Amino acid sequence: MRTREVPYVATPQVTVDEMLRLAGVGPEDFVIDLGSGDGRIVVTAVKKFGARGLGVDIDWRLVSQAEENARQAGVTDRARFLEQDLFQADLGQATVITTYLLPFVMLKLRPRVLALKPGTRIVSHDFDFGDWRPDRKTSIRKDVFLWIVPAQAAGRWQARLEMPPIERLLELEIKQRYQEVSAHARLNGVPSQVWETKLVGDRLSFVVVDTTDRDNEASFYFDGRVSGDVIEGELARGVGAGRSVTRWRAVKVDR
Ligand SMILES: C[S@@+](CC[C@H](N)C(=O)[O-])C[C@H]1O[C@@H](n2cnc3c(N)ncnc32)[C@H](O)[C@@H]1O
Repeated sequence: MRTREVPYVATPQVTVDEMLRLAGVGPEDFVIDLGSGDGRIVVTAVKKFGARGLGVDIDWRLVSQAEENARQAGVTDRARFLEQDLFQADLGQATVITTYLLPFVMLKLRPRVLALKPGTRIVSHDFDFGDWRPDRKTSIRKDVFLWIVPAQAAGRWQARLEMPPIERLLELEIKQRYQEVSAHARLNGVPSQVWETKLVGDRLSFVVVDTTDRDNEASFYFDGRVSGDVIEGELARGVGAGRSVTRWRAVKVDR
């Protein structure tokens, strides 16, 4: 059944601008506004940021008005509007999703958003996703929240680190709640603390102090992308003139 979950209230233009700025919208982006009203978010995404966009709204009169506004702004080649229930919308092509809904609608939407491609950004005017903390928030007249869909990094991982002459096996156990991650490591079987663990979309970074070369201790700076059961990226040992860089690849050993 199609229900109008939220009444129509337009986002002020300054807040529209701030939402799209905070999301870092650009020409490569496809912006979907869920409950698009008069179309101002999608029209602005196209006109000011060079993106493409789609607005969906349950109210056909607002869809017609949005189409007319897109015509007047000269952006019909890059902005489309559909009369549709936002819960039926195909979000697969979105790189950015914008919302000005209500708390209970946000919570209903949350599992769908979390299942989207890691790195997808969501910006919301006024309402948040409950205990999924935003990656960023600004308050310029109105609150604007930004989330970046995190990859699934939780689990046990193993990587052989190719830095001759010492052979090293990294075992990593990652715990995750949304984008918040913590990790424990063993380096050649020896427990090692993991520092500065961060997950932004599919990008995981952390630091482990390498004690396998006793006379030359240094930090390992790991940076990689999580894709299914593999993490791949760059590993730097040390800093400045003492820095050496290699690739690293970890595979999931269980979930
Ligand atoms: C608060 S307004 C926001 C309009 C626009 N996004 C903006 O920020 O200016 C919410 C919009 O959601 C639409 N809406 C409510 N329930 C909906 C549903 N189930 N599916 C699609 N749109 C819906 C309403 O018609 C309204 O236009």
